[in-house]
This record gives sequence, structure tokens and C-alpha cells, in this order.
Amino acid sequence: MIGVFDSGHGGLTILHALTARLPGHRYVYLGDHAHAPYGARDVEAIYELTRDNVERLFSIGCRLVLLACNTASAVALRRLQQSWLPHAAPDNRILGVVVPTIEAVTKVPWHVTSPPSGQAHEAKSVVVYATRRTVESGSYRYEIGLRAPAVTVLQQACAGLVDRIELDAPEAEIARMVAGFVAASLIGIGAGTEPSVPDTAILGCTHYPLVATHFAAALPPGVEILDQPDIVADSLGRYLSRHPEFDAPDPANPEPRFFTTGDPARIDPLASRFFGRAVSFERLASGLAG
Ligand code: DGL
Repeated sequence: MIGVFDSGHGGLTILHALTARLPGHRYVYLGDHAHAPYGARDVEAIYELTRDNVERLFSIGCRLVLLACNTASAVALRRLQQSWLPHAAPDNRILGVVVPTIEAVTKVPWHVTSPPSGQAHEAKSVVVYATRRTVESGSYRYEIGLRAPAVTVLQQACAGLVDRIELDAPEAEIARMVAGFVAASLIGIGAGTEPSVPDTAILGCTHYPLVATHFAAALPPGVEILDQPDIVADSLGRYLSRHPEFDAPDPANPEPRFFTTGDPARIDPLASRFFGRAVSFERLASGLAG
């Protein structure tokens, strides 16, 4: 079983890509709706909530958990892997969504932490749109910088965007918000020593693919918006082919199960929009093991 964790239902955009690209696996989704959103919580709270939810997924038999949340991946993953997992569950693994995205931008494998010699990286400029904590963590900027220092990384926190998407705000309002964030991220571009117009945009929050068309409309022509769900699914596929011990596809093609720490009745309608088809959440308290 593969556990897929998110603060709420944004991670369903990732799960949707997993079920399309890696069918047959037994996926268990857990959304911590009772504590969402994570994007403006303090770092310690994000760490502790993420750890507790990973532990829940481990306890029901998921040996591999994917943090399908940029905030949790950026803020908590490294610490979980280095300080918690080795004693709490040494045979299990936790993966995130930031690593595959950085590999896709830099074309450098994660284990390479300095620019490959002899491989002059094509200079480019990347803009990252994410939650406040993801931006503050500096993960995207730091990790891209290690592997591809010629790449300029601009970052823009999109305060409140997750909440408006969650509340199914009118498209025109979302479009205005997105246009404002894009404009803010590009201030000064092309002037003096400022970087040139980005050629790549990372929607570094699991909610933003739902409003990707608004980013595409607001960004200058020619900016490529990376498809994080597909990138993550492809990366997980490669990981599973190297580590089949963590999960093998089941020919019966089981349906994913969806759990929440919140109230399923309030979650199901919007969650179905994120997943692209009807989903039915079960409350965590009703028993994950059933
Ligand atoms: N899932 C979060 C992320 O990708 C966004 C929602 C939240 O702030 O909890 O950053």
C-alpha cells in the first residue's frame, strides 16, 4: 500500500496523476482537513502534524508514504528522513514532491549536490509560486542552486489563494488574484541587473494546478508551466521500479481509499473536483484499519 498524504485535498491532484500513470497500486489517501491549511502554520506545527499523519499511514501498513504537499515536503521531509525515520520506522520510506520537481528543472539527479563538472547548465530563470512557508523554507531556491547555479530562482508566496480555491471562489476573483501574484513576481524583470523573464514556472502548491489556466493567462507568453502531478507520478514510477519491495501493482486494480481527519460530508463535493471524479472520504476516527 502506498500512503499519499496532504494537509487537505490538494494532494488529490497528485493522486489523480498516480492512478492514471501508475494504475494497480493500492493507494491510501489521508487528508488532514482538521488542521488545513498548513501553508501559514509555523514550522514546528507543520513538522509535528506531518509526522503524526505519516505515522498513521505507517500504522495501517503503508511502508511508503508520499507527502503530496509542497509545504510538508519543503518544511518537514528532510528532518523526518534524517532524524525521525531511522529510529521510528527504519524499513519504511517517505518521499515528497519537491525533489522530483527540482530534478525536472535542473535535469540533475537528487543525489548529485553540486553542479556536474563539464556539464555547463543552460542558464534559465524559474519562478516558483507557493505557500508562504514553502517560500520561506527556501527549499526550491537552495536545492536548485546547488545543482544548477546558473538558474535564477524567483519566488512568490500566494497568500490566501489556497483558501479561495478551497471555497470555490468565482473564477474572475481567482483570475484577479493570480494575475496580481504573477505581476508581483515579475517586478523589475529585465531592468538593469535583474533576471530576464522566466522561461519556467513551478506551481509549487498542490492546489494551483486547478487554476493553472489563470497562471498561463497571466504569465508572459512562452513560459512553460511544469506539471508537478505528472512529474511526481513519473518519479514515483522510477522509484518503484528500483524498489519493487515497497509496492507491486495488484491485477485487481483496487480503488484508492480516502481518509480525513475532518468531516467527510463537507469535503466530498470539493474533493471530487480535485480528483476529477467522485470520491468518498471516511473519517479517520471511524478506523483506518477497516
Ligand atoms: N497542500 C499544500 C501545498 O502544496 C497547500 C495547502 C496548505 O496550505 O495546506 O503547499
